Amino acid sequence: MHIVDMRSDTVTKPSPEMRAAMASAEVGDDVFGDDPTVLELERRVAERFGHEAALFAPSGTMANQICLQVLVPPGNEVLCDGEAHIVLYEMGAAAAYGGISSRTWSPADGALDPALIGSMITPAGGFTVPTKAIAVEQTHNKAGGVILPYADLQALRGIADDAGIALHCDGARIWHASVAEGISLRTYGQLFDTLSVCLSKGLGAPVGSLVVGSAEKIARARVVRKRLGGGMRQVGILAAAGLYALEHNIDRLADDHVRAKRIAERLAPLGVVDPGRVRTNLVLLDLTKTAYDAAGLAKAAAEQGLLASPMGARKLRLITHLDLDDDGADRAADVLEGLLS
Ligand SMILES: Cc1ncc(COP(=O)(O)O)c(C=O)c1O
Repeated sequence: MHIVDMRSDTVTKPSPEMRAAMASAEVGDDVFGDDPTVLELERRVAERFGHEAALFAPSGTMANQICLQVLVPPGNEVLCDGEAHIVLYEMGAAAAYGGISSRTWSPADGALDPALIGSMITPAGGFTVPTKAIAVEQTHNKAGGVILPYADLQALRGIADDAGIALHCDGARIWHASVAEGISLRTYGQLFDTLSVCLSKGLGAPVGSLVVGSAEKIARARVVRKRLGGGMRQVGILAAAGLYALEHNIDRLADDHVRAKRIAERLAPLGVVDPGRVRTNLVLLDLTKTAYDAAGLAKAAAEQGLLASPMGARKLRLITHLDLDDDGADRAADVLEGLLS
């Protein structure tokens, strides 16, 4: 049976061209700062986001955690959405490794309320946990790939500046927001003190994220990365995949967005998704008005060759990506239409 795998955009396999770039990469020991391909990737990513420096990291989780440890000293707090990746899916790392307290605002399908967030900021005091950073996620995974509006992010930047605290972006899929909104990575980049951006979600690289920020923050990030065991050696073979991805796989994200929208439009008459909310590569199905729970629908779909991810009891997530073509997207819609009709 032909499998259509829409569990995540991380399931893509490196293309022959990407593998060729990896095979011919110049390498050196990156812990000594000797790997020219890593240095080139870091330089180019920093430049794209309009920051001074960047640091290659093995995963999105480590990149986020490095940023949090750079911005928030132990015993201080970060504010974030209650459905943020950093609090839901990073194994409590901020607390476990950074001594960082996380306080959340109530999830509202990814919507930001800058005034509410501003009201949560706690100054230092005799018995308080001082807020040192606000973290946002662009695009917002758990909310279905929604794009945080630029104006809200700008307002949040102003609030963070007034309070003298930092603003971090988990930008695992910030490329998608940039392509969908027509807002440059540089314009987004200027809003944040640190960003983590990912090469293996949608961009088709096998491994790798980068931390982006000022030279001073990246110097500190390098220490935290080593402490966490993220210093890698001849890692230019992976950075070469990242360079290839930056060059070839960003603009084409628009195709993934069109396919996601098409699936949503096909399923909209069944009352499980509002296509207006599908702006990037995620399609989040709300199963509350159907006979299925997420696990049940995922199992039934898998029996017909479609793989999707339950995201809570009655939400099922499908993600379009580089290795999914029009036929795959149509097949996904056929299977779900058949099961839900
Ligand atoms: C928004 C977001 N941030 C961070 C991560 C973590 O990335 P990794 O799986 O590379 O640790 C993910 C993974 O899916 C994600 O969706």
